[in-house]
Amino acid sequence: MTTYTARSEFKPVGLIGISDKQIEVHWKLYEGYCTQTNQLIEQLKAMREGGEGGSPLYADRRRRCAFEMCGMLVHDYYFANLKAGVTDSVAKAFKALVAGKFGSYENWLADFKACGLTRGVGHAICYLDPITGDVNNHFIEMHSEGHMPGYQVLLSMDVWEHAFLIDYLPAERAKYIEAFMANVNWEVVEARTEACLGGKASPRFVK
Ligand SMILES: [Fe+2]
Repeated sequence: MTTYTARSEFKPVGLIGISDKQIEVHWKLYEGYCTQTNQLIEQLKAMREGGEGGSPLYADRRRRCAFEMCGMLVHDYYFANLKAGVTDSVAKAFKALVAGKFGSYENWLADFKACGLTRGVGHAICYLDPITGDVNNHFIEMHSEGHMPGYQVLLSMDVWEHAFLIDYLPAERAKYIEAFMANVNWEVVEARTEACLGGKASPRFVK
C-alpha cells in the first residue's frame, strides 16, 4: 500500500502576506492528515481481515478516513500551488479556459474569491471536468463534502481559519484571499490545466 507523506520540497517559503510561521503551523496540520490517513488505511485493512468490515465501527472509521485523506489531498494541491513571485502571465491556457466559461479571467477571479468567502470552513477549488471541458469553482466543506467525482483540480485555496489565523483575524478572510492570490504558483496551475486538456490527470505535485 502507498505510504503518504507531506513532501517538504513543496513547502512554500517567502510568500507575500502569508508568513513562514503561518505556513509552518499549517504544514504541521497537513502532516497530521498524512499520518492519520496512513493509520486509518492500516486500521481498515486490519478490521476487514478480522471480519469487522461490516461493523458500525468500520463504517465510522471509513468516514474518518475520508475526512483525513481528502484533507491530505486538498492540502497536496494547496501547498503545491503556492509560490512567491510567479505572475499570472504564464497561465495562458488556464486563463483562456476560464474566460471561455466566465466571459473573462477577471469574472472567473471574482467568482473564485466569492467562493472562498463562503461561510463555513472549507476549500475553494477550481475544477475542470475532463469529459465536457467545463470549468467551475466549488466550495468543499470539511475536506470531504462537495467534491465533483471525476473532475480535476486546477487550483485549491484553503480558507479554514487555520490557514490564516497567524497573520489575519477571523473576520479578515478577504485579506488572506488577496494574499493567497498574490502567491499562486501559476506555473503549476498551467501545468495542471495542460495535463487535463491533454487527457491526463491533474498532478497534485508539479516540480
Ligand atoms: Fe488547511
